[in-house]
Amino acid sequence: MAYSVRKLTDFSAPSLDAASSELASALSQASAGIQSEAEFKIFRDYWMGRKGGVLTHLNDLWLKASPGPNKRDVGQRVNELKKKVEQAVESTLARIQTGESAGKLAAESLDITLPGIRRPIGAEHPVIKTMNEIVRVFRNLGYSIEEGPEIETDFYNFESLNFPPNHPARDTQDTIFIAGQDSKPQRDRLLLRTHTSPVQIRTMQKMKPPVRVVCPGKVHRNDAADATHSPVFHQVEGLAVDTNITFCDLKGTVDHAMKALFGSSVKTRFYPSFFPFTEPSADVQISCIFCDGKGVRDGGPCRNCKASGWIELLGCGMVDPNVYGFVDYDAAKISGFAFGMGVERIAILKYGVDDIQLFYHGDVRFLEQFS
Ligand code: PHE
Repeated sequence: MAYSVRKLTDFSAPSLDAASSELASALSQASAGIQSEAEFKIFRDYWMGRKGGVLTHLNDLWLKASPGPNKRDVGQRVNELKKKVEQAVESTLARIQTGESAGKLAAESLDITLPGIRRPIGAEHPVIKTMNEIVRVFRNLGYSIEEGPEIETDFYNFESLNFPPNHPARDTQDTIFIAGQDSKPQRDRLLLRTHTSPVQIRTMQKMKPPVRVVCPGKVHRNDAADATHSPVFHQVEGLAVDTNITFCDLKGTVDHAMKALFGSSVKTRFYPSFFPFTEPSADVQISCIFCDGKGVRDGGPCRNCKASGWIELLGCGMVDPNVYGFVDYDAAKISGFAFGMGVERIAILKYGVDDIQLFYHGDVRFLEQFS
């Protein structure tokens, strides 16, 4: 900013012309060099500052100093220059402001018109969803939840449930045993639990009656995988022990649960069966939900219930008094019932799935239908 207002002695038109154009060119040169807001402020004050700014000097050195006859002409020129300076200051500010925001945009390279990144929303797996539904039915009846280990001892999986050593009932469970356990006493040997019934024993060992629990969990059997079998599947166990619990309580509870799961028009029927840890024992069948229990569908035999009108769904019974002996309950004072159901089997019926393996393949096209 080398420019400073010259003191005029000659107020003739040509002299004023020369001085004015000298100022104008200094102004446009100074304006062009401004790159930042800080530089702009210095520039603005230099030209327009009240004390010592160029415009103030113009007033003092040109206008006030001019002799009477020239005042009019000088005043006009000073006004024009004043306008020029104001315009230059304004346009310089506009230039650095837009320039700065354009620069910032370029640096961020943020294109807000691009579509966002879509994250697919996950969903509960149909087996877990069904397991939670079953558990919820019993929670609503006041049952609490208990869990136990998937690697169990022979004692919890069999012995305490009244399967005597070497009893043929053990064979029905197709057990997967953990290797290298032979040196231990049989009851301490480890295996993958074949059912959730060991949680009955663990629960009764840690709490006194009244007991009302459901035990959801994973179980293992030495079964080859096919459309209806899987070596790993899920069960929900139930146990109620109190004074005066009868088979009627069992029937009413199971009937209520089946209606809650499959709809209020579903009927249940109890069919004699055998489990070492319940006496009497029953298999529960529900009226076929595909043919409404008629056994015929679309003019032919119903395939889902093999034309019987009934579908077998769970095992249950009154807790065998021998079991109470293993957990220090007084069989003379209390009674109870237990039941166990396969979660996949219920999910298959509820959702009309025709191959249990579909649950384990993790194929999103299958799984997303349940979200
Ligand atoms: N644990 C039995 C099974 O897996 C089912 C069952 C549970 C039967 C409780 C009676 C009482 O086959």
